[in-house]
Amino acid sequence: MIKRWIQALFAALLLVFSLSGCKGDSEQAHEPQLLLGFSQIGTESAWRIGNTLDIKEQADKYGVSLMLENANQKQENQIDALRRFIAYQVDVIAFSPIVEEGWDNVLQEAKEAGIPVVLVDRDISTKKDGLITCKIGADFYNEGLMAGEYLIRKADSLEMERVNIVEITGTANSTPMMQRQAGFMDAISGDERMNVLCSIDGDFLKSRGAECMRELLAEYGDEIDVVFSHNDEMTIGALPEIEEAGYRPGSDMIIISIDGGQEAIDILKEGKINCVVECTPKLGKALMETALKLKAGEEVETIIHPEEQFFSDEQDMSLIAPRGY
Ligand code: AHR
Repeated sequence: MIKRWIQALFAALLLVFSLSGCKGDSEQAHEPQLLLGFSQIGTESAWRIGNTLDIKEQADKYGVSLMLENANQKQENQIDALRRFIAYQVDVIAFSPIVEEGWDNVLQEAKEAGIPVVLVDRDISTKKDGLITCKIGADFYNEGLMAGEYLIRKADSLEMERVNIVEITGTANSTPMMQRQAGFMDAISGDERMNVLCSIDGDFLKSRGAECMRELLAEYGDEIDVVFSHNDEMTIGALPEIEEAGYRPGSDMIIISIDGGQEAIDILKEGKINCVVECTPKLGKALMETALKLKAGEEVETIIHPEEQFFSDEQDMSLIAPRGY
């Protein structure tokens, strides 16, 4: 009981602090329409930073008061943040789960408190019904599929007889890691030329992308035809390693990335990346609209996938608009 009371007090102080830090006098004068607690994974990538910024901007635009917490890549921090949102009795909870497993208890608490929960970006795995009201995020399986289909077209155009692939994956047991891998493997599995030499966990981090690439080059060197990297951050970490080892990324090795941030698109235009599948971080508008509907007691869609693009050396790259993240 005392613990709950302390959590509520802490959450109230946090809210006062966060609201006073970001609102002008005129905005403070009127009652916010909705209080939304959002637990973000961390700041591991330009994608994640763009996602946080978009959610803040859209909250401002829609007049939503945001309790935003950064979990610094730790699931236990996200669980603590969700408990603070419950103690504070926010109207809606949203979060991007770092991994899929391990959320049942805290989500059951949210359900018992009558607070709807919206998943943003990533999914959870649970056998319980009714813990989640809506999921807003990319179709990661389709992203993997598009990456694999591109590779088949590229191998055809280069008349390759054997295609040796190394895969640098995102955070183990996270939705994008599992679904991007599944989509990619399904796309290439019917093509006998395709051979995955190794899949290695790069945790969606630039530093890990570099480390993984060093290990892969040491182990497989000349054998590598393709690097399939689950996000731009790891790709950007891997590229200098490939160059230092004496290979030209984009020509000696086919480089496939996912996210579509500005830095990766600039490198695509330079010819050192061959293909970037978009994963848009701009999920804030759909989140605010969903949260407002939930507050008003209206029906919401259970799954919302944003439209996503695909960029590659097959296209006129001068037409790619500035990315904004
Ligand atoms: O969940 C989306 C993924 O998480 C993005 O691809 C990656 O860059 C981020 O860290």
